[in-house]
Amino acid sequence: MKVVRTIGEMQRLTTRLRQEGSLGFVPTMGALHEGHLELVRAAKRRCDRVVVSVFVNPIQFGPKDDYHAYPRDFKRDRLLLARVATDVVFYPDVREMYPDDYATYVEVEGLTKYLCGRSRPGHFRGVTTVVTKLFNIVKPDVAVFGQKDAQQAFVIKRMVRDLNFPVDIVIVPTVREPDGLAMSSRNVYLTQEERRQATVLYQSLREGEAMIKSGERDARRVKQALRRLIRTAPLAQIDYVEIVDTSRLHPVKTIKGEVLIALAVYFGRARLIDNLIVRG
Ligand code: PAF
Repeated sequence: MKVVRTIGEMQRLTTRLRQEGSLGFVPTMGALHEGHLELVRAAKRRCDRVVVSVFVNPIQFGPKDDYHAYPRDFKRDRLLLARVATDVVFYPDVREMYPDDYATYVEVEGLTKYLCGRSRPGHFRGVTTVVTKLFNIVKPDVAVFGQKDAQQAFVIKRMVRDLNFPVDIVIVPTVREPDGLAMSSRNVYLTQEERRQATVLYQSLREGEAMIKSGERDARRVKQALRRLIRTAPLAQIDYVEIVDTSRLHPVKTIKGEVLIALAVYFGRARLIDNLIVRG
């Protein structure tokens, strides 16, 4: 497995790899877990070669976010990536990606207005900018993202469509711990007690799903039920619980067709997100 640190070398390597076969790409911010490894496996099933990027992208963190504290352990990430037969790891530093006079950003409108876009202004602009740069550097045929970051997945698909990137976007289902908690790099922040209580997130999503499946159409009542259940965990601080349509990601009043139930909840300093797509 080759580790590449500069954009120039990555672009030269990519040109060669693409002559030999199809190229899959998994962008990550490191602190890898089984969820990321599932993304790499999905890319390997579809492509001859797989590139994984490990880059904690400063411009997608707000001033109050956890950029400096974000877990970083490249040695461990490298071992895990080698175990799933990654071909190349792109591991640039911040200066390489954003020189001092960096001035260009990519923004998807509309889809970024609610959910995490409302709680974290500028976050998706940072994500779409770095993903655009990474697509231009790696030039993949296929790029794989996780369903856990549902809004990110929608936003990237829209960006790829609107800007005509020749990349197939594949979304892989959320990988969960045996008790249902979605795997996340931020789970390492949880104390034992926070970790125990955090199982309420998936339980509440399942409760919402069950209500919709049994005929509840009033989004307000479903959200109230989710909030009530989450509040049974004393350490939970709700950021948002929302039900949105899956075309514009706008909050719905009446549940019709496919909706996304999404939530963001703090346990201590860990802001955890999770979601389910449900057909009403
Ligand atoms: O999902 C993530 O880990 C990040 O948002 C991504 C896509 C790697 C961009 O920095």
